[in-house]
Amino acid sequence: MIDNRIGAIINFVRRGSKVADIGADHGYLAIELVKSGRASFVIATDKNSGPFDAAKKNIAAAGLNIETRLGDGLKILREGEVDTICIAGMGGSLICEILDSPVTNSVEQLILQPMNAVEKVCAWLKNNSWFIADVDLAEAGGIIYEIISAVKNPAAVSLQTKKSVSPLLEKFNAQKIAKLQRVLDEMSKSPAAIATEKFAQIQAEINSLKQK
Ligand SMILES: C[S@@+](CC[C@H](N)C(=O)[O-])C[C@H]1O[C@@H](n2cnc3c(N)ncnc32)[C@H](O)[C@@H]1O
Repeated sequence: MIDNRIGAIINFVRRGSKVADIGADHGYLAIELVKSGRASFVIATDKNSGPFDAAKKNIAAAGLNIETRLGDGLKILREGEVDTICIAGMGGSLICEILDSPVTNSVEQLILQPMNAVEKVCAWLKNNSWFIADVDLAEAGGIIYEIISAVKNPAAVSLQTKKSVSPLLEKFNAQKIAKLQRVLDEMSKSPAAIATEKFAQIQAEINSLKQK
């Protein structure tokens, strides 16, 4: 089932890419990547046998030539097999753990959709010399997701996307402010919590978001 989130991920994939979909679960992203012609080749992986079997079943039903592999993160990939890695629907910390592999350096593009800790993923990219080429927002089921496209060498990759401001940005920032405000309200009940650096950081983040 293709929703706006999966659509936005696909939109970042360069035509003709060889893609590894890590944590493919149902396999919908992998299937649509091949069906749409965006990817010339996809390896769909998952660490857990339940989702892996579901992906295999859906891929077989779609009659597409997608390789499936059961295994942890990038451990089941060899350097040079793909040029693009997609990791979607996982926590930011787990995404960073998965990316800590020599295989990451062998690809040209990373497309990441963390469920949380987006700043951690951005810091990982910066610390490992990846360039954030574009960020998009997509709303599905009432939730706004952030999708990051990062490249190792912006000059060597001809990107099919260009930086633009998502029409969802205002709504996304409002949701973020509301979420942070709830944390602040909770912390405000304790004088000790108010005195913490975290309290000041959240307050500063709210102020900064309000100015956007
Ligand atoms: C919430 S699903 C997301 C599925 C799909 N990528 C999407 O965005 O719709 C996360 C999937 O990642 C898998 N997963 C978790 N840790 C993993 C790892 N280290 N390596 C590969 N797959 C993993 C889980 O089994 C699960 O199927």
